[in-house]
Amino acid sequence: MRLQNRVALVTGGGSGIGEAIAKAFAREGASVTVTGRRKDALDHVVAAIERTGGRASSAPGSVTIEADVRRAVEATVRAFGRIDVLINNAGNLFHAGPLHETSDQVWDETMDLFLKGVFRFTRAVIPQMIKQGGGSIINISTVAGIKAIPGFPAHAYAAAKAGVNMLTKTVAIQYARQGIRCNAICPAGVDTPGVAALTADPTMRAGFDAMHPIGRMGTPDEIAHAAVYFVAQPALRGKEVMDMQCVRCNGLMVVDQFADLADDSGQLMFAGWRCLVCGNISDPVIMANRHSPPRPQKPARKRAVAA
Ligand SMILES: NC(=O)c1ccc[n+]([C@@H]2O[C@H](COP(=O)([O-])OP(=O)(O)OC[C@H]3O[C@@H](n4cnc5c(N)ncnc54)[C@H](OP(=O)(O)O)[C@@H]3O)[C@@H](O)[C@H]2O)c1
Repeated sequence: MRLQNRVALVTGGGSGIGEAIAKAFAREGASVTVTGRRKDALDHVVAAIERTGGRASSAPGSVTIEADVRRAVEATVRAFGRIDVLINNAGNLFHAGPLHETSDQVWDETMDLFLKGVFRFTRAVIPQMIKQGGGSIINISTVAGIKAIPGFPAHAYAAAKAGVNMLTKTVAIQYARQGIRCNAICPAGVDTPGVAALTADPTMRAGFDAMHPIGRMGTPDEIAHAAVYFVAQPALRGKEVMDMQCVRCNGLMVVDQFADLADDSGQLMFAGWRCLVCGNISDPVIMANRHSPPRPQKPARKRAVAA
């Protein structure tokens, strides 16, 4: 068991990717709190985890309501004593259509759910993680937040997820010294109840499958494996230097470049992304802040001395 004695809080843990992550974390020994608006869905997941000997609790509520967010964080600390991992996953509504037909209401609701929800939960857990000496935050984003995808006019959703990707980077960099890591997993299509309405039609489904070089959509378990990896991987637990890396998602490749940043002490921190062409094309796209040894300081340049 790779996550023994860890405590995880999973938003949107009642179905789809969140449910798979909650169950995978529990299988690895973590205690898990699941949140979401439907209590019955949460109870179902908690019961399934407990049936297999795991520890779980539910904290019903919406990521769009600050009081619910605070309550979920407090309930988790009350139940399990700490929070080591936050999975920002909640969200199953997005509007696709021409931008010029997108209402203010659709735009605002999409931002509130997918971007501000991540902000709210991240803000709420950080003081607890600082008190504990660290933690790990994983944001479930999407390739649509990195790349504009032809035939997928989900403007507000894509913009909100692009915001999540940048928030992942700013949190990773600003809280690295307090031992808090922040990563985003950016899946392409994943077979969940959230996309069932879109994929119910066989022609649509075939189109979705064909978008992925592997020839099929991803599974929630594949995303859960990636989330476990980021928390369990000992090489990713250091503090000193980070880089952000994209692996790939169901064969949808995303390429970006490295960027070097200097921190306060003048040491270089790696904070770009790099695309790794991995062997297993069912791997999800992952942006991770990976910690590696500090680079040697460059020697100071000699100044020309005036004659
Ligand atoms: N499936 C894909 O192809 C895919 C691809 C890329 C990224 N993603 C991302 O993966 C995440 C999960 O999606 P999914 O496909 O697993 O969807 P899903 O099966 O519909 O699950 C979404 C979960 O989020 C919860 N949720 C929705 N609104 C909420 C709110 N306001 N507050 C709290 N919980 C809320 C839902 O529960 P309640 O309704 O009970 O609240 C549900 O349990 C989303 O962030 C999505 O953008 C999905």
